[in-house]
Amino acid sequence: MCWVKEKSLNLPLNQSTSLMKKKILVLTGGGDCPGLNAVIRALTKAAKNNGAYEVWGSLEAFNGILQEPPEIVKLTPSKVAGIHVKGGTIIKTTNRGNPLDYPVQLADGSWTTKDVCQDLIQKIKDHQFEAIVNIGGDGSQMISQKLFELGLPIIGVPKTIDNDLSATDLTFGFTTAVQIATESFDKLVTTAESHHRVMIMEVMGRDAGWIALHTAIAGGAEICLIPEIPFDMDSVLKKVNKRYKKGKGFVNIVVAEGAKPVGGTVLGEASKDVGDRHIKLAGIANYIRRSLEDRNCPAQIRTTVLGHIQRGGTPLAFDRILATAMGVKAFEMIKAAEFGRMVTFRNNKINSVTLKVATSKYHHVDKKHYLIHTAKSIGISFGE
Ligand code: F6P
Repeated sequence: MCWVKEKSLNLPLNQSTSLMKKKILVLTGGGDCPGLNAVIRALTKAAKNNGAYEVWGSLEAFNGILQEPPEIVKLTPSKVAGIHVKGGTIIKTTNRGNPLDYPVQLADGSWTTKDVCQDLIQKIKDHQFEAIVNIGGDGSQMISQKLFELGLPIIGVPKTIDNDLSATDLTFGFTTAVQIATESFDKLVTTAESHHRVMIMEVMGRDAGWIALHTAIAGGAEICLIPEIPFDMDSVLKKVNKRYKKGKGFVNIVVAEGAKPVGGTVLGEASKDVGDRHIKLAGIANYIRRSLEDRNCPAQIRTTVLGHIQRGGTPLAFDRILATAMGVKAFEMIKAAEFGRMVTFRNNKINSVTLKVATSKYHHVDKKHYLIHTAKSIGISFGE
């Protein structure tokens, strides 16, 4: 009996292949994130323990399987032993591997992009992969949804430090990023206190303010600026001035990279890489510093852009556990042929939703979120 469901590739399972192990292809796409390796390990171990499956990794997202010869590796328990404590991804990643918009070099050396989905599907058939696990953020899961519509038996596992996927309460990597940001913030507070300075720390998060909001509360910031609440510089200056008396006092500000002033736009620049259409967000901390200086802010101001430090290093125990649970769930979904779905963590339970639902709404910080209320109640200003 063919275990692949109706909408999938309907790969032929003849007598000889039915005796062979069923092949799962796993890949990691988009930015790396603490916890990716824990998912890979859990999936590989669960498959091994089941006995009927084997797991292969496609290097650099779909790039690996698209190469000739393919860059794919068989993942065995020994290959994944101990990797749950490591940051990054042992199967590498890229944000230039979208099969719908794939970078291709022309004869004259210039680059363009094209849709290689049919090539990809053919290669997956040729290598007899019966299930694909795509570990990635919102962009990667939109790709998963398109490929599912084209018949690929695919399952999504959400990852991102930004926590910006609405179908899941948390993505692994986020808690680690918040911890890193908070520890960094604590280090800046001592300088702010000692020098009577304004210290501004810029954190990641793209169009969501989750990392900034959590860090501001955990670190005890005076001001927190997030994309969901455009800020007014005069209001920011007012809060700063309140903390300064006769040249004394200090202020710590956390600003999300995607924050913007009222009526303004985000700061950043378009990526120059072919096949990478995202804007590299950066510069808001310095914008705030200059705007405060222009308004004759009485204090010295320094900025820190935390950048990729937030995505690096070993995942916290919580993220390892969440990632492991998600890897196991992905395997169970494969066994049950629940394709076209993404693993979720909702109300303390591991579950799944359709990729369509998972990718239909961005997870912004709601202004009515209890943490906005918490922050305001302890005096944190959002620069409104
Ligand atoms: O989505 C994760 C993230 O780290 C964002 O917070 C950030 O804006 C972006 O990726 C940075 O991307 P890159 O690593 O391509 O510079």
